[in-house]
Amino acid sequence: MSGNSKARQGSGAAPPEAAPQAATNPAPQATNSMWGGRFDAAPDGLMTAINASVGFDCRLYAEDIAASKAHADMLVAQGIIPAADGAKIQAGLDSIREEIEHGRFEFKSELEDIHMNIEARLGELIGGAAGRLHTARSRNDQVATDFRLWVRGALQRSDAEMRDLQAALIARAEDNAATVMPGFTHLQSAQPVTFGHHLLAYVEMLGRDRGRVTDCLRRLGECPLGAGALAGTSFPIDREASATALGFDRPCANSIDAVSDRDFALEALSLAAIVATHLSRLAEELVIWSSAQFAFIRLSDGFSTGSSMMPQKRNPDAAELVRAKSGRITGALVALLTVMKGLALSYAKDMQEDKEPLFDAFDSLSICLRATAGMIGDLEVDKAAMAGAAGHGHATATELADWLVRELDMPFRDAHRVTGRVVRRADELSCRLDELSLEELQAVEPRIIAAALEVLNPLNAVASRSSYGGTAPSQVRAQVVRARERFL
Ligand code: ARG
Repeated sequence: MSGNSKARQGSGAAPPEAAPQAATNPAPQATNSMWGGRFDAAPDGLMTAINASVGFDCRLYAEDIAASKAHADMLVAQGIIPAADGAKIQAGLDSIREEIEHGRFEFKSELEDIHMNIEARLGELIGGAAGRLHTARSRNDQVATDFRLWVRGALQRSDAEMRDLQAALIARAEDNAATVMPGFTHLQSAQPVTFGHHLLAYVEMLGRDRGRVTDCLRRLGECPLGAGALAGTSFPIDREASATALGFDRPCANSIDAVSDRDFALEALSLAAIVATHLSRLAEELVIWSSAQFAFIRLSDGFSTGSSMMPQKRNPDAAELVRAKSGRITGALVALLTVMKGLALSYAKDMQEDKEPLFDAFDSLSICLRATAGMIGDLEVDKAAMAGAAGHGHATATELADWLVRELDMPFRDAHRVTGRVVRRADELSCRLDELSLEELQAVEPRIIAAALEVLNPLNAVASRSSYGGTAPSQVRAQVVRARERFL
């Protein structure tokens, strides 16, 4: 061991809150008790520091125990280990789970990871029988199995959180099926829409996001356990049995792929990045809409913060942080893609770096989904401000052009030109299109009659857009009904 190792002892990353506490100071010992057979000296303190993952992979404890229990059951059923040892292993693993959940488990960095911490403790609790648990498996298939199980749970939680957000959006959409607001392209007033219609756009995005979760879960349904280090095993194991016991559809077909594959994690991170991007766009809109200049909505006190200097401020910090966290979720995807891209098959220790980005991404996604549902559920809508803005920026100009086409049989390009002149006249008079007199309109196109003024009203404009999926209140109400059937 090199000098000064005490000062250089590794401490590993601090475990996340609510996760079991990892040990910080490995006790010096001769060699590693799990694999030290061929070594004379203990690892350097820095080796322990860079190698230990228990500071974060302690989050896999429940999955690790579940997978070990399924493996031990299978070993007994196949006659590979004695039933009496199997029973001791089951009881020991149950006690370890208790110890961890009650904060009584001592995590040790010198035992590297969650897998070896649990196995070493099992030895302390049940003695020699513990040594039989690792028959016909390796940490490589073990970690791949545990991580798949964790990702599966995280995806199921995200799906439930997305559903809750959809429910909040659908409820607001129903209340606002007839709330007129400006619709934007290029963030310029384009055509009036209804606020309910706008919110339902996010319900669709989240619906596709949830579809991606389903797809990912389907591919995740293959179990690596029993792949061994990479080549399979000479013991007569039953991979179907352990796969089924853990809720997988089937065992992974190729043992080399089983321990090498992390594309389930990449796929989960990809879909998380897409969800986060959707949330970020909604967050950006909440920031814009809640500004004094727009004042379309007011975020609740519960989801706003004040300024320590400017007493008038109500800052949309939660929305801003949802917008920002999409950066770190996308960052996690890029980090893991970069870790994986040059790895020759099969397992390499690089792959231990798969966990922290993924844990962080799913923690971030969860708080973003829940905070967004909270903001949507609580926000106040200023219907008058929205309606007032809907008439600004000549947002109903397209209605007039369509009227000229429909009623005067004008080609659309001519109607577009005529309407452009009407818009110019309104600008000259500094008024809205629906404030122009019939005389002003007729000065541009003499065949325009009073009925044309009707279409300039934003309320009439939205009501007319009753095509399937359109913004008319009748359509929005129908979309609300369909969305509830499809998603809730
Ligand atoms: N902690 C390791 C990881 O997360 C477990 C697998 C270790 N395998 C090995 N051959 N060293 O990837």
